[in-house]
Amino acid sequence: MVSLTSTVPVLDDDPYSPEILADPYPFFDRLRAAGPAVWLNAHGVHAFGRDAEVRAILEDHRTFISGAGVGIVNIHHHPPLRRPGILEVDPPIHTRMRAAMDAVIAPRRLRPRRKDFATCAKEVIDEVLATDDGRFDAARLAEKYVLRVFGDAVGIPRAGREENLLAQGAANFSTFGPQNEIARRWIAEAEGTYDWVLENCAREALDQAGMGAQIWEFADSGVIDADEATLLVRALLSAGLDTTIFAITNTLRALSLHRDQYARIHVEPRTVRYAIDEAFRFDSPFQSFYRTTSRDTVIGGVELPADTKVLVFPGSANRDASRWGRDAHVYDANRDASGHLTFGMGIHQCVGQPISRMEMDALLSAFVTRIARIEPTAAAEPLVHTTLRSYASVPLRAIPA
Ligand code: HEM
Repeated sequence: MVSLTSTVPVLDDDPYSPEILADPYPFFDRLRAAGPAVWLNAHGVHAFGRDAEVRAILEDHRTFISGAGVGIVNIHHHPPLRRPGILEVDPPIHTRMRAAMDAVIAPRRLRPRRKDFATCAKEVIDEVLATDDGRFDAARLAEKYVLRVFGDAVGIPRAGREENLLAQGAANFSTFGPQNEIARRWIAEAEGTYDWVLENCAREALDQAGMGAQIWEFADSGVIDADEATLLVRALLSAGLDTTIFAITNTLRALSLHRDQYARIHVEPRTVRYAIDEAFRFDSPFQSFYRTTSRDTVIGGVELPADTKVLVFPGSANRDASRWGRDAHVYDANRDASGHLTFGMGIHQCVGQPISRMEMDALLSAFVTRIARIEPTAAAEPLVHTTLRSYASVPLRAIPA
C-alpha cells in the first residue's frame, strides 16, 4: 500500500550550482533524508534520490517515458533542433534501434578487439613510466587511452579526435540539465565540433571493420533506416567517450586514496574488476537525468499527473544506506557493488556497458600489474559539469613493481 502525502518535502538547493556539482554528496544526503520524493524549488521539479524509487522509475518505461526527452526540457512541447536519438525514443522505434546496437556491441563481436585494447594499454602505461619520476595525470591518461581504443573500435579517422570528440561529448551531456552558465560554457567550447562529428560519422568516412560500419549493415538489411544509422553512430561517440574516460579517472583517483586496497589488487590483478564496479557505484560518471510521466501515477507517495517531468539521481541512489549499508559513503573494493544504477536500468540501460567494461578491464589490469603503488601528488580538481561527474585533473605518481 502506498500512503499518499498531501505535501511533498521541499528543498531549496540548486543541484546544478557549482558548489553542489563540485561535491554533490552532502546534497544527496539531504535529498534522500527529506523523503522518497522531493520538490526542488530551484527548478520546479520532483526529484528522486533513493535507490527504490530511482530503480522503479527506470524499470517502468511505459509510465516513465524517455520520448519526451531525458533532459529537463519536454521535447513534446519544445521540439529539439536535432532528431532525437536512441536515448530519447520509446518502443517501437527504440526496440529496432536497440536491436542494431545490441548486435554490434555483443560481447562475441567485441572479444577480438581485446588484443588491441591490451596493446594500447601497454603503450600508455609505458609512457607513464617513462615520465619524470612516474608523475602523470590520471585524467590525461584516461583521455589518451579511450580516444585511441574507442575511436578505433568505432572506426572513425584518428586525426582530429582529441580536438573534437571530448568537447562534443561534454556539450552533448550539457543539454540534459538547465541551460545555466556551466552548461553554456561547455556548449560554447564545442563550437565547430558538431560538423566534424557529422562528417566523420558519415558512412564513407568509417573504417569498414569498425562498429560504425557494422551499424550501417543494419540499415542495408532494412532493420533501421539511414537516418537512424547516422544517429546511432553519433550516439556511440557522444555517449561512449567522456563516460568511460571519467570512469577510468574516478577509479584511479579512488584507488590512489586507498593504498591498502591498491596493494591487495596489485597482488591479485584479477580482482581489479571489483575495484572498477565499486568505483562505478561510488562516483557515477553519469549523475542525473529525467523521465516524463505518460499517465497519472503515484511514486514515492506523491501523485503525479500525466506529462510531468521527474528528475532521477542514480549518483545519489548509489550512496543510499538502505541499499548499500551504513558505509555507503566508503569506497570499498571488496564490496559486491553489482546492482548499482550507474548504467541505468530497464530498456534504456546502457548498451555500451560491455565495451566500457572491456576497455577499463584491459587498461586497469595492465596498470595494477605493472605499478606497485600510486600516490596523489596534489589534490584532484573536480570537473564541474551539470550531468557528468569526474575530475579535470588527478595528479598522481606511479611507483613501478
Ligand atoms: C562508464 C561508462 C558509461 C556510463 C556510466 C554510461 C551510462 C549510461 C546510462 C546511465 C544510460 C541510460 C540513460 C537513460 O536511461 O536515460 C546509458 C545509455 C546509453 N549508453 Fe551508456 N554509459 C557508458 C558508456 C557507454 C559507451 C561506451 C557507449 C557506446 C558504445 C554508450 C552508449 C549508450 C547508448 C547508445 C545509450 C542509450 C541506450 C538506450 O536508450 O537503449 N554508453 N548509458
